[in-house]
Amino acid sequence: MVAYFFTILELSAPLVSTIGQNSKEAKKQVSFVGCKVPSVCPLTHSYGTIHQNPFVHIHVFYEGDAWIVSNNKQTQGVRTVWWEDDASGAVVCLLDQSLLPQEVVYLRLKHEQEVADAIRALKVRGAPAIGVTAAFGLALSIRRLIQEQDGSLSLSAAQQHVHAVGELLSETRPTAVNLFWAIERMLHCADVAINNHASLQDLAHLLQAEAQSIADEDFDACMAMGNYGAELIADGDTLLTHCNAGALATAGWGTALAPMYVAHKAGKRIHVFVDETRPVLQGSRLTTWELQQEGIPLTLITDSMVGHFMRLGGIKAVFVGADRVAANGDVANKIGTYSVAVLAHAHQIPFYVAAPSSTIDLDIPSGEYIPIEQRNLEEVTSVRGIAIAPAGIRAANPAFDVTPHAYITAIITERGIIHSPYEEGLRRVIMDLRYHN
Ligand code: MRU
Repeated sequence: MVAYFFTILELSAPLVSTIGQNSKEAKKQVSFVGCKVPSVCPLTHSYGTIHQNPFVHIHVFYEGDAWIVSNNKQTQGVRTVWWEDDASGAVVCLLDQSLLPQEVVYLRLKHEQEVADAIRALKVRGAPAIGVTAAFGLALSIRRLIQEQDGSLSLSAAQQHVHAVGELLSETRPTAVNLFWAIERMLHCADVAINNHASLQDLAHLLQAEAQSIADEDFDACMAMGNYGAELIADGDTLLTHCNAGALATAGWGTALAPMYVAHKAGKRIHVFVDETRPVLQGSRLTTWELQQEGIPLTLITDSMVGHFMRLGGIKAVFVGADRVAANGDVANKIGTYSVAVLAHAHQIPFYVAAPSSTIDLDIPSGEYIPIEQRNLEEVTSVRGIAIAPAGIRAANPAFDVTPHAYITAIITERGIIHSPYEEGLRRVIMDLRYHN
């Protein structure tokens, strides 16, 4: 067994150097929003005092031909969403992605309404990360209520409350099925506990544990997709990705970016073309930021340059994530994915979708049935508050599009790589997971 041992210090180091060349400069750029005691916010703390901090030791090792993380789950340098307990109670911690890359701000949310607002406002985004955040939000809501009602809360009132919070969270974003999957799983956990007359304390504990399992499973799924997907990448490849399907979009190493991280760590020299992903710029703001942390060479291009660079040759494969995969393999992902897929098809470039099982929706026969989120038109008519179009014009802002399965070369899941016919492969993945859980 070849083993490489990293500590958080090593894993986080590139992140620090991106924010500032030294820890003093890094400190200046970190804001503590609502963070009463910065030291309880581990990664925020680590930016400021990275060289003195006694880091939790995370062992990441290469065994056979796969990366494995032992004990404590941790992303490489980017931490997207996690749970904490502080003196005042439970907290859902988030890296505010709406401010990246200019500001690195961690939010400490103590109310489910704040969690719902953060999801809606894209402070946390990316299908798996939304699911994990909603799960933590539900667990937070019951802890908060028990604390506030101080002994007067009944089990049936607690049940009504978690269902109402499930409703609140499910109204935030319609396309990513991971959100509904996570909420359903949390409500099922609550209902089982309540039907078994659990105490309120046990209910809160079970919900917190379930949310943590959802996060941990996502971490493991990312790692597995990374290992499978890396086999599709050769030394020297130039790849292209759209939107952000990396660590920022998950509780782990990402979906579409995980294969790149694994390939890079295994010594393969890769170069990634990142398209900016209008209108919210997840590519230019987020994907470039996190690839840069890991030292992966990249080139930022506008969305309209994709065809040009594919025609010139050199792009060996496209890797994207997904918000929902229908039973026939049609995929909803960030608006613009369909155009990239058609261009890849025209240039005979493999087009890979990486998606964990929580993104697979067997209840939806094809992409036609996937609800597409329509977002605020100001995202199109302005960039960060600056108008880029005349006032009063008509605009449209579908946040996602559907790529028919015919344009997809393979779907990378945590259970392996699926090829057409997708229906059969996707069912196998889901059945396999049910069997093993
Ligand atoms: O609107 P967003 O930023 O939530 O959209 C995200 C995407 O489209 C991602 O590609 C998708 O969620 C996969 S994330 C692993």
